[in-house]
Amino acid sequence: MKINVGRVNFYYGKQQALYDVSTRIRQQAVTALIGPSGCGKSTFLRSLNRMNDLIPGARLEGKVELDGEDIYSDEMDVIHLRRRVGMIFQRSNPFPMSVYDNVAYGVRVNKLARKRLEVDEIVEKTLRAAALWEEVKDRLHRSAMSLSGGQQQRLCIARALAVEPEVLLMDEPASALDPISTAKIEELIYNLKQSYTIVVVTHNMQQAARISDETGFFLNGRLVEFNETKRIFTAPAVRETEDYITGRFG
Ligand SMILES: Nc1ncnc2c1ncn2[C@@H]1O[C@H](COP(=O)(O)OP(=O)(O)O)[C@@H](O)[C@H]1O
Ligand SMILES: [Mg+2]
Repeated sequence: MKINVGRVNFYYGKQQALYDVSTRIRQQAVTALIGPSGCGKSTFLRSLNRMNDLIPGARLEGKVELDGEDIYSDEMDVIHLRRRVGMIFQRSNPFPMSVYDNVAYGVRVNKLARKRLEVDEIVEKTLRAAALWEEVKDRLHRSAMSLSGGQQQRLCIARALAVEPEVLLMDEPASALDPISTAKIEELIYNLKQSYTIVVVTHNMQQAARISDETGFFLNGRLVEFNETKRIFTAPAVRETEDYITGRFG
């Protein structure tokens, strides 16, 4: 197990968004989080690398452990935590700089390499890992904004990978993309799990079924069911899960 979540309650000011959520996230596996909009999926995801800390009035009770270490303890270095637990958003957000510099950014900031040749190597290795190298190797010094939406999203994945994270959190990473780009992202996620622990929020049931090993179903701020993906989609234990995956609501 990579992440252990124990009885998490989460509040935006007085409004509670998560209720008593407990679960474990498996290492080198893909965990999908599904559920209707507003049920707390993004809140939960952001609580795994303390991204919610940035929201005024937000407060978490309970425990989130990464490799057995409480990430909400005072000793936790949050910058380092976010390096270990990277995040990919729904809207790709490349920096307004070249393709190369997007990937090299975190490498330089974190001083993971100094020499130009070393940075070159990391950029190539990472773009290959993000299944983007062949498409951009001849335009590394052009603006990232000149890439297609799907390429930009893979660039953001490359940027996240460049700082050698252990966990990747993805919040609906393909929902703004066309079907071909979506298929590429799905294939990429599937391949990345050999080296990373991945947690992906999706509203696409087929996508969750295709790419994940385990699935959690959220409803109204509660983690209603969590199990192997196969189980969730063939024999859910809870009535609400069945209603949701068969499209009766949401
Ligand atoms: N930054 C925020 N400030 C206040 N309330 C928020 C914020 N983000 C989300 N919420 C509320 O928390 C609840 C869960 O939202 P969210 O985690 O975004 O759900 P989901 O990702 O499943 O759509 C919703 O009621 C939403 O309005
Ligand atoms: Mg969301």
